[in-house]
Amino acid sequence: MAKKRALITGITGQDGSYLAEYLLEQGYDVIGMIRRSSTVNFERIHHIQDKVTLVAGDLLDEVSMIHLLREHRPSEVYNLAAQSFVQTSFSQPVFTGEVTGLGVTRILDAVRVVDPGIRFYQASSSEMFGKVQAVPQSETTPFYPRSPYGVAKLYGHWITVNYRESYDMYACSGILFNHESPRRGLEFVTRKITNAVARIKLGKDKELRLGNLDAKRDWGYAKDYVRAMHLMLQQDTADDYVVSTGETYSVRRFCEIAFGHVGLNYQDYVVIDERFYRPAEVDLLVGDPAKANKNLGWKPEVTFEQLVTMMVDSDLQANK
Ligand code: NAP
Ligand code: GDD
Repeated sequence: MAKKRALITGITGQDGSYLAEYLLEQGYDVIGMIRRSSTVNFERIHHIQDKVTLVAGDLLDEVSMIHLLREHRPSEVYNLAAQSFVQTSFSQPVFTGEVTGLGVTRILDAVRVVDPGIRFYQASSSEMFGKVQAVPQSETTPFYPRSPYGVAKLYGHWITVNYRESYDMYACSGILFNHESPRRGLEFVTRKITNAVARIKLGKDKELRLGNLDAKRDWGYAKDYVRAMHLMLQQDTADDYVVSTGETYSVRRFCEIAFGHVGLNYQDYVVIDERFYRPAEVDLLVGDPAKANKNLGWKPEVTFEQLVTMMVDSDLQANK
């Protein structure tokens, strides 16, 4: 049988790196789309760089994607690229809309033009639930985004549904709740905390400045979540799925466990700083993963506590 070939946009990101590893393990040819920059940022993929094909393209440029789809002819496309940091979306709302919102139309349309038979995965987000209209949130919960990022993701979600319904394309939207790992960007709260815990423990820092400690998130492990992305594209029909753990914890609780893991009390080090508050907050996210569990046979393997301690241990090693 011919080898399956997948294109991943955002391969240099947290999820892109785990998905590339996973697809290689499944025997895929992996094509990774990277955008041009003056320095390379292959930290997360340097260990698999010789096993994947990296090609230049940008979500802002549909022509670049038409060319690379024509040249490489993938059977599956995973659109993970985005301006993904919520805080930045408040200061760069138009740019976020261009990349995270309209970028989805550009790649979907490139797929439609080149080969509408290509299976397509869109990285949608629990941020679309924002000011939540039900607890827990499922595929049928109404959306109410609270940031330019959430609004852009909602556009990306609906355009994916629209292309599925208009052109009979196999296009899925994965509504993923927060997922973390030792490869998480340092600006996101989990990694910011675990990196600070390591540095404080090693005597390199004295405090950690954070915003809203009462926000609650449904945090899972990124490596578990990329399996769900792949499963969504292996079904008889395309559909949308919530991917989550079904548990929720506050930022404060995350701090408690992370500091506690190295024998420290977070209250001695965490300083509240208004700069990290958002103009509009998402107070509570908790997903209902029943549909993914039933239809895809997916469930997470790593618990919240295992995730926190894994990230602290990794940052202790990295900061030594
Ligand atoms: P990430 O680490 O921020 O990675 C984002 C990726 O997008 C990077 O590879 C980045 O490339 C690339 N990118 C940004 N702008 C681009 C452009 N104009 N053209 C091409 N590539 C571009 O994000 P992540 O955590 O892996 O998340 C993956 C996707 O899932 C994102 O769409 C995110 O919004 C979504 N999502 C994430 C979560 C989560 O909890 N992690 C939850 C729900 C949804 P550079 O390396 O060049 O910057
Ligand atoms: N980043 C950050 N920094 N967040 C803080 C801080 C801080 O110093 N202090 C408190 N928080 C709170 C934020 O206000 C938010 O309520 C929560 O911690 C989580 O923030 P992030 O880790 O930045 O993630 P997010 O939930 O806004 O967005 C992430 O998850 C989405 C899925 O729900 C990103 O990965 C998005 O791309 C993703 O779609």
